[in-house]
Amino acid sequence: MSATLTDRLSAVVGRAFEAQGLDAALGTVRPSDRPDLCQFQCNGALAAAKQAKRNPREVGAAVAKALKGEAVFATVELAGPGFLNLTLTDEALSEAAQAAPAGWTAPTPQKIVVDYGGANVAKPLHVGHLRSALIGEAIKRTLRAVGHEAVGDIHLGDWGLQMGQLIVQMAEERPDLPYFDEGFEGPYPEESPVTVDDLAALYPRASAACKAKKDELDTAVREAAASRLAKAQGATAALQAGRPGYRALWQHFIDVSLPALEADYGRLGAQFELWRGEASVNDRIAPLVARLEGQGLLEESDGAKVVRVARADDKKEMPPLLMIKSNGSVGYGSTDLATIDERAEEGFERCLYVVDKRQGEHFEQVFRAADAAGIMAEDRLEFCGFGTMNGKDGKPFKTRAGGVLRLSDLFEMVLGKARDRLSEGGVGADYPEEERQAIAEAVGMAALKFADLSNPRTTDYVFDLDRFVAFEGKTGPYLLYAAVRIDSVLQKAAYEGGADGFRIGHEAERDLALALAAYPDALRASHDRRMPHVLCDHAYAVAQAFSRFYAACRIGDEADRDVRTSRLALAKATSEQLHTVLDLLGIALPPRM
Ligand code: ARG
Repeated sequence: MSATLTDRLSAVVGRAFEAQGLDAALGTVRPSDRPDLCQFQCNGALAAAKQAKRNPREVGAAVAKALKGEAVFATVELAGPGFLNLTLTDEALSEAAQAAPAGWTAPTPQKIVVDYGGANVAKPLHVGHLRSALIGEAIKRTLRAVGHEAVGDIHLGDWGLQMGQLIVQMAEERPDLPYFDEGFEGPYPEESPVTVDDLAALYPRASAACKAKKDELDTAVREAAASRLAKAQGATAALQAGRPGYRALWQHFIDVSLPALEADYGRLGAQFELWRGEASVNDRIAPLVARLEGQGLLEESDGAKVVRVARADDKKEMPPLLMIKSNGSVGYGSTDLATIDERAEEGFERCLYVVDKRQGEHFEQVFRAADAAGIMAEDRLEFCGFGTMNGKDGKPFKTRAGGVLRLSDLFEMVLGKARDRLSEGGVGADYPEEERQAIAEAVGMAALKFADLSNPRTTDYVFDLDRFVAFEGKTGPYLLYAAVRIDSVLQKAAYEGGADGFRIGHEAERDLALALAAYPDALRASHDRRMPHVLCDHAYAVAQAFSRFYAACRIGDEADRDVRTSRLALAKATSEQLHTVLDLLGIALPPRM
């Protein structure tokens, strides 16, 4: 287990509190709120005074005195009612900055599955799936960076009502096909009767046929929709029960959908180790239901089988988890519970779900059921909900026509904007067209990803493409540009290492070293809170500190050789750290800009 800089400082200050007969935990050190006054601060004297009924300034003074002998601190000042303002020696700071690439290691590495992506086969990917893919990928990479064995599972939505809807729609439109004839003895055609584009067009028809408009007055129309829905539900149940024609057609749907999904996710940089889906656990459900029954956890409710998960101290009503619907089909809850059963059996010690926060109740039900059935303890099941990407009207982002925005259309929009921005800025004007394309792709994707990830996971945010692709401010393009610029400085100077630590002589060097030294703390916080935005904030702070350093200090053309070598080493460390953090965020860099 490695310690971050604030951990190490907290240990030092904690000892000084202990020497006063006080609790070491009071020595917690954090980055200063007033960087103009000091680098770090500790407010423990105030809490200590309350506990020990002593004067906080007196406690603070005693601790400060004890810290005077500590080599890491250049200054320890008592301020206000008892704050300790701490600043490191340049040697200590330089050492911490040099140690930063080691990051931070989790005390107990675990085998963890991250459930993210969650695309639904045959339904278009929408911006909610975009968020899941980006946040999930960053969380998974962060887990790995701190020592966990993390595996990503896309958990495709491939077993729900949309499958029955598609089957019934196909039966209506293509009754000539053999899949619907129960007497057919096979074999079924090897070739799919639909392409992925057919499927994309089929689904809206299939779904529309099951729905009457809310204000539909014509009872015949309403009844037709209701009867179609019942048919689709029946087909879903039959598919799940193994009706051969339906299974064969379903397999075609899956087979034509997967390459398109792989392409979309590939473009997003999401890499799933497991391409499983809800359907893959179908055979586990019957034995699981029998087990739940044996445990006395299963109840009948209007012909359905449910697990009651409500608790006495619930603040709001918690409906039971639906295991088997009255028509015999399984639902979202049953496949999720069976999936946990599979994951537990495969030795996963923890499951993380990166899903829209509006699904919180569903996961609460599933987790409680898993716990009650002894499948996996609740404290190993984690829901990492995320907020919505909204339009300027504050509602979930839609196309101008009011539909859900398809990911592929979003990509085109972003790419177009990135291209405009690049040509406005004259970036790559003399590069070959192919390279300009690649840069636009990198800038567009960085803009989209950084804009998404830089918001705290749980908050909603407004989609504002113009702001996302700006080269100024806290944006993906700004960070790419910063990283690429540093690399070109290093390249021009033909830096080949050889620095013996960072020699901090200038304020801007000190600030940059301080920013770099914060990486292990940022990594840890991002890991512990499952909040990739912490890493975004960190990368931005590093890039800004580098900008100030670049403006204030000569680097490659500095005359003093030792200073030059140290500055190049600082630039090199900055470049490496930005590359590391951007990689954790799943953001790829173009070789030049
Ligand atoms: N397919 C679901 C949706 O589009 C997301 C799946 C999330 N993961 C899970 N294990 N339920 O809403």
